Amino acid sequence: MRTSYDLSDWQHYLSHPEIDVIKHATKYMSMDSDVLCIGAGAGTCAFAVLEELENVLYYSVDILTNSREVTTNEHLRLQETPYYNSGKVIRIWGDSHIVGKRWRIPLDMLIIDGGHGKEDIEEDLRLWVPHVKVDGFVICHDYSSDAWPWVKTTVDKYVENINKPEVRMKFIKHDDTMISFRMLNGVGW
Ligand SMILES: C[S@@+](CC[C@H](N)C(=O)[O-])C[C@H]1O[C@@H](n2cnc3c(N)ncnc32)[C@H](O)[C@@H]1O
Repeated sequence: MRTSYDLSDWQHYLSHPEIDVIKHATKYMSMDSDVLCIGAGAGTCAFAVLEELENVLYYSVDILTNSREVTTNEHLRLQETPYYNSGKVIRIWGDSHIVGKRWRIPLDMLIIDGGHGKEDIEEDLRLWVPHVKVDGFVICHDYSSDAWPWVKTTVDKYVENINKPEVRMKFIKHDDTMISFRMLNGVGW
């Protein structure tokens, strides 16, 4: 069965050190956590989480699900594994900026890797970080990447603002272009 590292080597959405930032966060989470990822892609994030959290409920939101199988092929990769019928992955075909508006399930981990425009990142942070529980993780991809320099500035600005007057998001780890934070105080939960 393919692993998250195999998907990394094949489809190149995430590097091995970036996968390890996700896996590192799972060490502090319970096996039955609720995780949501914006941007299904090849399912690399999904595999990274599923490999570590046995009873996870993983929500995957992608605007292109089923419409472009080459770039958004998480469903095909899952079909090759026992994860597919396990009920552990709930795949949502939609725009994260709409899905996030009335979301009601508190999250133990949020992974942001969807639209990479400045406004996309701003909106994903604004809509989704409030759904992360105290002690939960927020993980952003393409932070400090050369291709999308505004991801870093947008995330930095959000974290700076949210941390006033008290620290709510604590920096945990940064490797390659993946960065993780932990919620010390909730924004919404
Ligand atoms: C870089 S890929 C994600 C890679 C993936 N995280 C992985 O582990 O393989 C970005 C994905 O975000 C999706 N996307 C772009 N804008 C989106 C939006 N507004 N809402 C949901 N998904 C979006 C794209 O369709 C694409 O599948």
